[in-house]
Amino acid sequence: MTIRWKLKDGSIKETPATVGASLLNVAHRHEIDLEGACGGVTACSTCHVILESPVMDALPEPTEEEDDMLDLAFGLTPTSRLGCQVFLTEQ
Ligand code: FES
Repeated sequence: MTIRWKLKDGSIKETPATVGASLLNVAHRHEIDLEGACGGVTACSTCHVILESPVMDALPEPTEEEDDMLDLAFGLTPTSRLGCQVFLTEQ
C-alpha cells in the first residue's frame, strides 16, 4: 500500500507501507519528519498526525492513554491521532 503524507511545507510525499506497521514506523523508515520521542509507548505527543476524515472514520477509537496524550498535542484537530498508535490494515 501507499501512504500519502502532506508535509509541513505543504508538499506531498508518497511512501510504501506494509500491513501491521504503524504510521510512525513508516515515517521513520522513509525519512518523514515525525519525531516519536517516546518510541511509541504513548508517553508523548510528538508523533501527532492529522488524518483525512475517511481514514479517521475507518480507525478504531483511540485508547484513553492516546486521548490523554493527544490533549497535549500542538494544533489538535478532530482528526488528530498519534502516529505510533495507528496501525495499517488491509482496509
Ligand atoms: Fe510518543 Fe507516539 S511516539 S506517543
